[in-house]
Amino acid sequence: MEIAVVQSDVTKIQADVLVVNLFEGVTSPGGATGAVDTALGGLISELISDGEITGSLNETTLIHTLNPAYEGFTPARVLVVGLGSNDSFDTNAIRRVSAAVARKLRISGVKYAATIVHGAGIGNVEPSAATQALVEGSLLGSYRFLKYRTTDKKRKPDVAKLTIVEADAGKIAAIESGVTRGQAYSAAENLARDLVNEPANKMAPSDLANVASTVASENGLSSVVLEESDVAKLGMGAYLGVSQGGPRPLKFIHLTYEGDAGNPENNMWLIGKGITFDSGGISLKPGLGMGKMKGDMGGGAAVIAAMQAIAQLKPNLNVHAVCAATDNMPGGSAQRPGDVVTAMNGMTIEIDNTDAEGRLTLADAIGYAQSKGAAKIVDVATLTGAARIALGDGVSPVFGNDDDLVNAVLETSEAVGESMWRLPLDPVTKRQNSSKIADLKNTGGRAGGSTTAAHFIADFAGETPWVHIDIAATSMLDSTRGWMTAGATGVPTRSLIELAMKMGN
Ligand code: BES
Ligand code: MN
Ligand code: ZN
Repeated sequence: MEIAVVQSDVTKIQADVLVVNLFEGVTSPGGATGAVDTALGGLISELISDGEITGSLNETTLIHTLNPAYEGFTPARVLVVGLGSNDSFDTNAIRRVSAAVARKLRISGVKYAATIVHGAGIGNVEPSAATQALVEGSLLGSYRFLKYRTTDKKRKPDVAKLTIVEADAGKIAAIESGVTRGQAYSAAENLARDLVNEPANKMAPSDLANVASTVASENGLSSVVLEESDVAKLGMGAYLGVSQGGPRPLKFIHLTYEGDAGNPENNMWLIGKGITFDSGGISLKPGLGMGKMKGDMGGGAAVIAAMQAIAQLKPNLNVHAVCAATDNMPGGSAQRPGDVVTAMNGMTIEIDNTDAEGRLTLADAIGYAQSKGAAKIVDVATLTGAARIALGDGVSPVFGNDDDLVNAVLETSEAVGESMWRLPLDPVTKRQNSSKIADLKNTGGRAGGSTTAAHFIADFAGETPWVHIDIAATSMLDSTRGWMTAGATGVPTRSLIELAMKMGN
């Protein structure tokens, strides 16, 4: 979907559909919606008083305006979208509404649409933020993964072009900057979705590494991919243990963005879990729903995708993305429950359950980041089924050892609409990870499953300010929810971009 910005009177715009809006409870519309109402001889006001248009969130009313009575009014149709109550209105409402509109326009067969910026009037949202949310809602909400659907000929194509119309010349620059950011954020999140939706037979560690290298070369990032022999030299025994059960070679991916080259210590490391298929290994998962484990590289996808937007938007700090990519398979050479491995930092780990593999790969990715001088670490991982039990599939649990960094992550996640909630790293639950034979055990029992996993990672983060985001429940959805379409959500790609933008401003 191409996005354009024009300064114009809305009633004079050439489009198949012009999208305007209405807050709940407003009986006589003002602003651009008011101008349209006037041009249509009070038609919108009449539909409000008739009760057809109420302004409730996501309500859409299509009015056909190709009528000689509306001479001088150029849009062929007008879509009035409800914004809900002005009290609960924010950029996330704009994303939600824009996603619903984008899908409605597609179903209606619209090719050229025009829209006003929702919320920049009486909604009181700053025009560039409102525009960014509008663009994100439109691009994320119309996402589909159609690559392997070859026979359905009746499917409606996407809206070809969306023109944002604004009458006030003074707002155009802000709107244009919102478009630039909205496009970068959405393209990155949709890239993460593509990688997660890709089946495991098409997304080996080498495929993920190739995508990362392409993102790097197209956006001026540096990229390094370590092979098994390199990883062995570095002593990443925990990562190697996971990888040894399957034939597809591991790839350790490291992308670097230098936004403050003179101050290498001004850095943030984004570490994503990159299990390209998690069978569970010898502790084999049950068959039902195992196919979803193609998405066990969702953290890696998010950090690689975030780097694309970070490279484009250029915050003033150094950002590194790391993904220790591998399958977790039960082959004849697989590691066994009871094995002991040694991580890069020298700590020994008893493998209690080979299905708790993500924390093992993260342990060595963190060891690597620390060996390179990481000042701050944010890891993102589809780590525990227990995350869904704790918080459901709308909120990702967050853990961390540094209040400032945790709060920065929570604030950015709220701003972009990717809900997160902090859970405690309490000392009682931590004891569940103790091993009788090694420094640590890779499981901590059923109670507090997300917490024991986080404690395990915390032991490797040590003193480095660190935050862990468990996206096991939020990375894929069964059905569409607002701008998050069914399948991969791409969460928390936009939170990571926003975090980098905020830390490097
Ligand atoms: N990748 C899974 C976690 C997961 C489960 C992600 C469901 C998405 C949906 C992870 O590697 C795993 O298997 N975790 C185990 C840990 C257990 C063995 C301690 C789990 O959650 O059951
Ligand atoms: Mn697992
Ligand atoms: Zn896993």
